Amino acid sequence: GNRTFTMIKPGAVRKNYEGAILKMINDAGFKIRAMKLTRMSTTQAGAFYEVHKGKPFYDNLVKFMSSGPIVAAILEKENAIEDFRKLIGATNPENAAEGTVRKLFACSVTENAVHGADSDENATREADFFFSTFERFYDYE
Ligand code: GTP
Ligand code: MG
Repeated sequence: GNRTFTMIKPGAVRKNYEGAILKMINDAGFKIRAMKLTRMSTTQAGAFYEVHKGKPFYDNLVKFMSSGPIVAAILEKENAIEDFRKLIGATNPENAAEGTVRKLFACSVTENAVHGADSDENATREADFFFSTFERFYDYE
């Protein structure tokens, strides 16, 4: 797909890494089509990560993701989903390739700096979770 959804997670925002991470995103050729600083309630984080419900890390993940503000954004680029996941690197920063966002800015598998959607369907669902049509700018150069 040509669009993906990302969040800069609470730990990275707490450390003031959002500017450096957004620069990497821009430098990799992604256009920002929607963006906001916001905070999820535990209920919202639970719903966002519903697919992981029942997994051993779910409660911690929900607690962490609702622990402070995040930067949510819709990004556009050819092959956006795959290229963005390549840019951020493996889920566990210990396994993330050199030069990836998670290698540079993550501190653990839970506090792994960024989220990237894993399919067109989920990118749409996740974008709809945060943004109204009036908050999206798909038709600008
Ligand atoms: P996201 O882009 O955040 O969705 O990461 P991902 O697609 O690489 O991983 P996944 O969707 O499988 O898991 C969502 C989030 O749950 C991850 O980003 C991690 O923060 C956390 N997570 C996933 N697997 C584990 C795990 O084995 N242990 C712990 N502690 N956290 C995990
Ligand atoms: Mg995922």
